[in-house]
Amino acid sequence: MASSPPLAADPADVTAGFRGAMRRLASGVAIVVARGDDLPVGMAATSITSLTMDPPAVLLCINQSAGIHPCLSPGCPISVNILSRHQRDVSAAFGGAVPRDRRFEVGQWASDVHDLPALDDAQANLACTIDSMTPFGTHSIVVARVETVRLSDSVEPLIYQDGAYL
Ligand SMILES: Cc1cc2nc3c(=O)[nH]c(=O)nc-3n(C[C@H](O)[C@H](O)[C@H](O)COP(=O)(O)O)c2cc1C
Repeated sequence: MASSPPLAADPADVTAGFRGAMRRLASGVAIVVARGDDLPVGMAATSITSLTMDPPAVLLCINQSAGIHPCLSPGCPISVNILSRHQRDVSAAFGGAVPRDRRFEVGQWASDVHDLPALDDAQANLACTIDSMTPFGTHSIVVARVETVRLSDSVEPLIYQDGAYL
């Protein structure tokens, strides 16, 4: 198997190497939604991970500079919407291509048990409540308990890798 030589322990090389490594990690994409002061706020995230089955819980890593971050704290409900293959436009919009106050114009949205927006035709909609938040570097590690789940009929997730969608 062809491979490049190991990178030197130069911090610049580690940064570039790490970025390259993460571009090679394929991930599903979710839209995370929280309650803002007046309107719901949402952003795209690939950092969603299954944490435990008992209790059902997920982990997300959210940049502290993201617009949603001030709306996240323990006890707050969030809506996690795992995107379907045909929802690239929703991912792009909530990834910053559309201004925050116009993002929910992209895609069809209904309401979940917490009265937060839940995306129609997503692969899955998870209604969650934040359990804990742990700062690490530029991000916060968010642990949320899953309270209700809605599933699509077929498994056709949107996958992000190397800065593009599969
Ligand atoms: C496919 C994709 C995945 C992303 N995953 C994350 C993520 O896991 N965590 C994060 O903090 N930002 C992630 N981002 C970046 C945010 O979605 C983006 O910065 C967004 O604009 C932040 O919201 P804001 O514009 O309201 O601040 C991702 C963007 C895209 C397009």
